[in-house]
Order: sequence, then C-alpha cells, then structure tokens
Amino acid sequence: MLPAAGGGTRMGSARPKQYLPLRGRSLIEWSLAPFLESEWIDGVVVVLARNDTEFQRLPIARHPRIVTTTGGSARAESVLAGLEMVARRAAAFEEVYALVHDAARPCVAWSDIEKLCEEAADEQGGLLALPVSDTLKQARKGKVAGTVDRESMWRAQTPQLFRLDLLTQALRGCSEQGLAVTDEASAMERAGYEPRLVRGRESNIKVTYPEDLPLAEFWLEQQENSP
Ligand code: CTP
Ligand code: MG
Repeated sequence: MLPAAGGGTRMGSARPKQYLPLRGRSLIEWSLAPFLESEWIDGVVVVLARNDTEFQRLPIARHPRIVTTTGGSARAESVLAGLEMVARRAAAFEEVYALVHDAARPCVAWSDIEKLCEEAADEQGGLLALPVSDTLKQARKGKVAGTVDRESMWRAQTPQLFRLDLLTQALRGCSEQGLAVTDEASAMERAGYEPRLVRGRESNIKVTYPEDLPLAEFWLEQQENSP
C-alpha cells in the first residue's frame, strides 16, 4: 500500500512531488514498479489526496492490480484509509500482511523488499532502516546540549511490513489517544511490539527537498546499469 496523499510542502513545487517527472516517468510510477512486478504481492492500494487530479491521468492507473482510495490530512490517517481498503480487498484471506511504502521513495530495490518479507513476516513485523553514520547532537536553542550515542540509532525507511489486523489496531489506538505517529513501526511500538530492523540501502531516499530529485535520478541510473 502506498500513501500518496501528501502535498509535498517541503518540495515547494506547485505539483505534489509524487507526480514530478523523473527519468521519463512520474516519481510515483518508479515507487510503484517493484510492487507491481512481484508475484508475492496480491494487490496494490494507492492512497490519494481528496483533490488529486493527476493519478487517473497516468497510464499506470489502469493497471489491473491497482486500486485507489482517499487519504486524510496526516500520513497516519492516509495509511489507515489504505489499510481499510486492503482489508476489503483481502477479506477472503486469513493471515494478511501489508507492506506500507512511501510514494516519495522511488529508488527502493526489490531485493530489499524481499529481504524484509523473509525476515519480518511475523507478529512483530519490521521495516527497512539504516544505522546512523554521523555523530548526533542534541540541540537546545541552536547550541549543542549533548552528544547522543549513535551506536543504537537507526533511520527508519519504508517499506514497513506488518500484519494487517495488528497494524490497523495499533494505528487506531494511536489515533484514539491523539498520538501523532510518523511511521507504522512507532504505532506498533506503542502497542508493545518490537519491529525488526532490516538493513536497507542509502539509495532508498525519501524525496523531500528539491535537491533530492537529482539524487534520485542518480540512484535510478545506477540501478539501471547494475540491476
Ligand atoms: N502522505 C500521505 N498523506 C498525508 C501526508 C503524507 O499519504 N496526509 C504520504 C506522502 O504522499 C508521501 C509519504 O506519505 O508519499 C511520506 O510523507 P512526506 O515525505 O512527508 O510527504 P509530504 O507530506 O507530501 O511532504 P511534506 O511533509 O514536505 O509536505
Ligand atoms: Mg509530510
């Protein structure tokens, strides 16, 4: 499931960033591609903003494995809407897992998605992530208040893989308590689970600022040359 209902404010472009052109396609088409090619995945739900006019114009919108639904004003709301659609589509299956992947991450490698599915398909679930390599500083009013031990620090990426029922429950719990969560794993943590950290790659960037676009282009070119 791909949450794609954000407006991309930090990108500062008139068009939401998921529709910006990238190596001859739109960014979201790159993000969707590995999931559409896989036989492991039964269907793909794309969560769109209420006022989205762009998705239906893409050739990929008519792909037989894609369905769309409408998201909310926060990412977690969009993810919940997407999970509800997954639940409707997968009602006939017993144990359903959902992979949640940011539409803004066009360079994810299929081999990493596969690794995540192999290592984290249980109650705890898991996510792609990378250990932090820079030294981390605690800030107070623009000055250093301390140095954080980076040994135990990882950066969370997507996809994140969880059992559909457990993740839905965890996200609903956070929403009822008014807790803002920026990824699926944090909702699961609050519900008492210990999601597995599966080492991903530096190339799996989240396109956030304008300078991330040439970087995404670079990684896609690298992948094309050494698939
Ligand atoms: N997202 C979503 N619904 C929201 C907010 C975000 O589906 N209400 C999606 C975005 O479309 C994106 C992913 O969640 O694919 C990660 O969010 P982020 O990178 O923060 O994207 P935006 O919220 O669009 O960007 P910004 O925060 O700069 O406005
Ligand atoms: Mg955002």
